[in-house]
Amino acid sequence: MQNLLFVDDENNYLKAMERMLHKQKALWNIFSAQSVDQALALTRTIAFDVIISDVNMPEKSGFDLLKSLQKARSTRTIPVIILTANSEGDLKRKALELGATDLLNKPVSYEDLVARITSALRLKSYQDELIYHNLSLETKVKERTLQLDHLHQDLIWRLAKAGELRDEETGDHVVRVGHYSRIIAQNLNLSQEEIDLIFLTAPLHDLGKIGIPDAILLKKNKLTKTEWTAMKTHCKIGADILLEKPKGMKAFYALKEEENPLPWIQDPLKTYAAIIAMTHHEKWDGSGYPGGLKKKEIPIQGRIVAFADVYDALRSKRPYKDACSAEHTWRTLEQAAGSHLDPDIFESIQTLQPEFESILARYNDL
Ligand code: C2E
Ligand code: SIN
Ligand code: SIN
Ligand code: FE
Ligand code: FE
Repeated sequence: MQNLLFVDDENNYLKAMERMLHKQKALWNIFSAQSVDQALALTRTIAFDVIISDVNMPEKSGFDLLKSLQKARSTRTIPVIILTANSEGDLKRKALELGATDLLNKPVSYEDLVARITSALRLKSYQDELIYHNLSLETKVKERTLQLDHLHQDLIWRLAKAGELRDEETGDHVVRVGHYSRIIAQNLNLSQEEIDLIFLTAPLHDLGKIGIPDAILLKKNKLTKTEWTAMKTHCKIGADILLEKPKGMKAFYALKEEENPLPWIQDPLKTYAAIIAMTHHEKWDGSGYPGGLKKKEIPIQGRIVAFADVYDALRSKRPYKDACSAEHTWRTLEQAAGSHLDPDIFESIQTLQPEFESILARYNDL
C-alpha cells in the first residue's frame, strides 16, 4: 500500500477526491488534511509517498508546505503535486522553484489525477530503492567479485554511445567522464570493484538525454523555464531505462524470479548505473535535482561523477557555450566545492589536474 495525502482547506473538495479515487482503495491509503500544519503533523507519524496540495489556503499556503517539507531529510524526497487554477502562470513557476514535482489544473479530471499520482509514486519508489540500495551496496559489492565479460563491457559501451549520439558536440564526453571518475575513485581509496563499477557505469550518466527532444537538447541559447524543467527529467529517464522491470523478458526471468524477486535491480552494475543517472546533478548544499539530496545523502558515486561531468562540460564546447581554459575550470571547481560539489573530494583531487588534462587530450574526437 502507498500513502497519499491531500491538503485542502475545503472539506468538500477533500471528500470529492476521496470519492474520485475510491477504485484505487486497494492500492492507495488516502489521508487528508485541512491545513498545512495538520499536514506537517501527519508527516511526523506517516511516511507519505505523495502529497497533493492546494495553493491558496486561509492560514499557511501550499508554498509554505513546500518550504517546510524541504527542510527535513525525512520529508524532502516526498513528491508534491500542486493544484492551481489554469490562469495562475506565476504560481506555477513559483511552485516548481520551491520543489513541486508536478502541477495539476483545477478542476482536475479523474484520468489526469490518477496518471500524475502514478508517475509521482514511481519517482518516489525509485528514490527509495536508490537510497536503500546505496546503503546496502557496500557490503554487497564486497561479497561478490565483479564478473564481467567482454560482451557486458561492449554492451554498456554501446548503450552509452547511443545516449550521446544526438548530442553531437559533446564528442567523447561520456568516455572521458568514465576516466575522470575512475581516477577520482582511486584517489578516494575505494575498493577495486567499486572503482571498476564506477568506471564502467559513469559513461551512462546522461543516458536519459535520449528522451529529451532535439529542440531542447541542441538549443543554441539558454533554456526557458519550461525547457529546463524538461531537461531535468533526463536523470529519472535514465534511471527508469536502467531499472525498469523488463516485462518483455518475463520468460527469461521466470526461473530466476523464484529465488530472487528483483533480479534486474540487484545486479551491482545496473544499480551503480542507475544511482549515477539519478544523482549526478544533486548538489552538496541540497540545491540540486531531482531529489534535492544534501551532502552525504548523495551517494558517493553521484558525488564523484558530478566532478567528472562538470569538469568535462566546462572544458568542452557545447551548443550553448564555449570551452573554458584549464585554469579557469579549476577555479570554477574550487568555487563550487562546498556549494555544488563535495569539498572533501575536491581536497583529495588536488594533484590530479595534469591527469585530467591528459585524459582530455587522449579521448577527444573534436
Ligand atoms: P552538460 O552540458 O553535460 O553539463 C553538465 C553540468 O556541468 C551542468 O549541469 C552544470 O552543472 C555544469 N556546467 C555546464 N556548463 C557550465 C558552465 O558554463 N558554467 C558552470 N558553472 N557549470 C557548467 P546542469 O546545469 O544541470 O545541466 C545539465 C544539462 O542540461 C547540460 O549537460 C546540458 O545538456 C543542458 N543545459 C544546461 N544549460 C543549458 C543551456 O543553457 N542551453 C542548452 N541548450 N542546454 C543546457
Ligand atoms: C547552466 O545552466 O548553464 C549552468 C548552471 C549551473 O552552474 O549549475
Ligand atoms: C537553472 O540553473 O536553474 C537555469 C539554467 C537554465 O535555464 O539553463
Ligand atoms: Fe546530466
Ligand atoms: Fe553530462
